[in-house]
Amino acid sequence: MTTPNNHTAPQSVLMVCLGNICRSPLAEEVFRQKSRQAGFDIKVDSCGTAHWHEVNPADVRSRQVGKSRGYNIDQLRARQLKNSDFETFDLMLAMDKQNLADLQSIKDKLTAQGKTNLAQLALFSEQDATYQHQKVPDPYYGDMADFEQALDLIESMADSWINKWT
Ligand code: 4NP
Repeated sequence: MTTPNNHTAPQSVLMVCLGNICRSPLAEEVFRQKSRQAGFDIKVDSCGTAHWHEVNPADVRSRQVGKSRGYNIDQLRARQLKNSDFETFDLMLAMDKQNLADLQSIKDKLTAQGKTNLAQLALFSEQDATYQHQKVPDPYYGDMADFEQALDLIESMADSWINKWT
């Protein structure tokens, strides 16, 4: 595991939301495609802080809106965040502030247990001048327009991280 800085791309990125069925699966595939297109070889995965949808495919609305823009996430299956992710991944990107707070709380506990070299944490919007400090709103209880908007933000935020490393 390497520690990314402002100029160096991480070797691995974990996209994190609540259920791992709406936002983070899209973020995973968008980031995978965009980072590859930019010439990076970054391992990309996603998970949810909650266990509710474990092993389920992504929400059909995310799959549909993704497919309409060239992101096929049909093969992805939801999984819950696990402690070992903090040692496996260089960078964890949270879709909203609650996701980030949940990540920070687990990282703090692991640090208190003496674990070192743990993943860096950030809000997905951190590098995005257009959407800075904003969340990717949870579209689960919304309609297709909310899923379209989530994907707009995800594409912009993915570009912002990749631009930082290029
Ligand atoms: P996600 O959306 O965190 O973007 O996957 C949600 C999916 C499911 C639920 C909440 C948010 N849920 O309450 O089941």
